[in-house]
Amino acid sequence: MRKLAVVVLAMLVLTGVAARAETYPSRPITIIVPFSAGGPSDAMARILAERMKRSLGEVLLIENVTGAGGSIGVGRAVRSAPDGYTLSFGHLGTHVANGAIYKLGYDLVDDLTPVLLLPSNPMIIVSKNAVPAKSLKELLEWLKSRPSPPTAGTAGAGSGSHIAGLYFESVSGIKLQYVPYRGTGPALNDLVAGQIDIIVDQTSNSINQVRAGTIRAYAVTDSKRVQNAPDIPTVDEAGLPGFHMTLWSGLWVPKGTPKEIVAKLNAAAVEALNDPDVRKQFENLGLEMPPQDQLTPQALGAWQKAEIAKWWPLIKAANVKVD
Ligand code: MLT
Repeated sequence: MRKLAVVVLAMLVLTGVAARAETYPSRPITIIVPFSAGGPSDAMARILAERMKRSLGEVLLIENVTGAGGSIGVGRAVRSAPDGYTLSFGHLGTHVANGAIYKLGYDLVDDLTPVLLLPSNPMIIVSKNAVPAKSLKELLEWLKSRPSPPTAGTAGAGSGSHIAGLYFESVSGIKLQYVPYRGTGPALNDLVAGQIDIIVDQTSNSINQVRAGTIRAYAVTDSKRVQNAPDIPTVDEAGLPGFHMTLWSGLWVPKGTPKEIVAKLNAAAVEALNDPDVRKQFENLGLEMPPQDQLTPQALGAWQKAEIAKWWPLIKAANVKVD
């Protein structure tokens, strides 16, 4: 009798899950962006949300939940209901590096289900306009000549711009004084205002200020130049050979989200990435689309695990202290 009751209960649960997936989505969806509005994560998420709305038939709202290098926002998403109404937007910093720096209280792989790998971009070395350097070599000389460590804006310990700063320190031998913000949107505002010296930023964040001439660009952390910014040299050309770093982004949902809902979200996001207008907006920001064969949830899962294996030893060796 008891066995029958368990089977009936299981069937009721499964039927309920299937029914919910069938009618999903039936109300607005929230994308938690773990950095402040106006930065590169926020910009990518908003472009994506606008197009995914068309496929899903429901509004996708951006909620900026900031702090601790993005780990607070990711934690909020991890603890949300696994019903497809809360998505976790993140990247190399939040869904890889943070696991090597913070005691997160959640597992970046076991407590999240991957949905889709999103566009990526190299980092770009930028400075305030007051820096009298016309090349990366001159910038390195200027930084070394500072009486105290030059200031570098980041989005907090474990953020992409912070990991890039650590990498920059290790290849240049220059010690930086990090200035953490709730995102590289506000950090860039201070760079334009001359309040900080440099950022090793996502190209997509700085590129428009470089084009406007309000900050100086020296190199991109890649072996090839950015398609829509061909006048900015690579680090290989400019004097820091091999300083390559690509910041990729992705979308996740909490563990336990029904696979039919994950599939609907994946399909809507793939449709957005294949939309010519969306592609044009991203490419104009210096972002590269993921290859078509990397657009499955499994591909993001495998990629995240590979990036953890690659970056955790380097980050742990840097012995980053978070207060
Ligand atoms: C980062 O540095 O991790 C991000 O670029 C921050 C942001 O998206 O604001």
